[in-house]
Amino acid sequence: MASRIIPVDPFDLVIFGGTGDLARRKILPGLYRRFLDEQITEDSRIIGAARSTMDDAAYREVVRASIRDHIPAAKQAADAVDRFVNIVGYVALDARGTDGWDALAKLMRKSVVRAFYLSVAPTLFAEIATRLHRHRITDKHSRIVIEKPFGRDRASARKLNAEMATHFKEDQIYRIDHYLGKETVQNLMAVRFANILFEPLWNAQYVDHVQITVAETVGVEGRGSYYDTSGAMRDMVQNHLMQLLCLIAMEPPYKFDPDAVRDEKLKVIRALDPVAPDDIVRGQYLGTGQADSYLDHTGRTESLTESFVALKASLSSWRWKGTPFYLRTGKRLRARASEIAVTFKEPPHSIFEQEEGWRANVLVIRLQPDEGINLKVMIKEPGPGGMRLTEVPLDMSFAEALGEEGTDIPDAYERLIMDVIRGNQTLFMRGDEVEAAWAWTDPIIGEWEARGESPKPYDAGSSGPEDALMLMHRDGRRWREIR
Ligand code: BG6
Repeated sequence: MASRIIPVDPFDLVIFGGTGDLARRKILPGLYRRFLDEQITEDSRIIGAARSTMDDAAYREVVRASIRDHIPAAKQAADAVDRFVNIVGYVALDARGTDGWDALAKLMRKSVVRAFYLSVAPTLFAEIATRLHRHRITDKHSRIVIEKPFGRDRASARKLNAEMATHFKEDQIYRIDHYLGKETVQNLMAVRFANILFEPLWNAQYVDHVQITVAETVGVEGRGSYYDTSGAMRDMVQNHLMQLLCLIAMEPPYKFDPDAVRDEKLKVIRALDPVAPDDIVRGQYLGTGQADSYLDHTGRTESLTESFVALKASLSSWRWKGTPFYLRTGKRLRARASEIAVTFKEPPHSIFEQEEGWRANVLVIRLQPDEGINLKVMIKEPGPGGMRLTEVPLDMSFAEALGEEGTDIPDAYERLIMDVIRGNQTLFMRGDEVEAAWAWTDPIIGEWEARGESPKPYDAGSSGPEDALMLMHRDGRRWREIR
């Protein structure tokens, strides 16, 4: 059932920040898995680049440790790991100086794809791009990959886009939003655009509302000092939740082509109405028992930064005028659960006498964990007791439906890095999308800053602050349980 694996062209991939957390947790294990599946062949090369002085052998040990820590034991056959580390090398360089760049230039091979993954602080993006150019390491086919945050508001995102554009064309820049690489997120497009079933109902006439929840159990822990300058709005809503909203709300693109898809997403972002202050709730987690509070993690005694956001968004478009989109995300919540729930309207007239127990149809797309799709429908309760209706789920867990392959879902980074090598930008953010997303977010954050209000406290392990519940209650609706 798994899709056929076609090897990518040979490449030289340089990972700046090659010893960092993201490289060790996601990028290197992801590359190893693609190697194991023979999607990456032995004529490709992966070059770690960082400040520490070490040779290839020492870096290969870093890579071995990352595989040991992040790949199931059954997939760590010694000879596969040996063959993989053989394609790995290292160069020590100073991102802000001159050391190491000539050595890197010498390592680059002609006639293979060159990709540069900047897994470093955003303050280094422009510096590295400039040096790559100055040392003639890149050519017009090279690709550069950057990770969020892409600025912290529209102005800084614009500046970053302009800096990158000095040395790279837009079709060489791969802005990663790892949510777009998640298998179920891609499935959103398949469900919508490969089936006739949903599309006729996919509008304000039939959809009562949409809920998008990305709930995490982790707190901000070791990232406290970074996170405190960001908050949930910048860290999650402006990018990940916004992308989910786009995939739900966009018009069918004329083709599954990078710009066709991104043009449609951009139209959604531009159609978003400004959010009224009453339509948004911010929260910050308290400690309970053993669990640290948000402030413990930031080492501060007070902070106005939110670790939770719930908001009601609306779109001024023919398709969606009148259908609210409720978005919610937070740290230290009751469960790790991400889902999109599309709640349809009730039938216009009931021919049945039963007054209680009516439920609207709900299509739930579970992103993680236990990826799958669930459609709630009404049926007759079995038995001779007359026509009594009850709600049942038509449940499709990908793990069950697809067998073993359904449980072996590739990590988002695996898919995305292979797309970089293939030169496919469909699942990457375009510069204008990022700026438009900030244009919607900026006034919200600006308003908070102007008011200087504290976020509402919520208990670790809860569903967020009470006020977030009210956001839906006052509209006669309720959030789905986080579980
Ligand atoms: C990152 C955020 O982009 O996404 C983190 O910076 C967050 O704060 C993470 O925890 C969530 O990703 P996932 O894949 O675990 O849902």
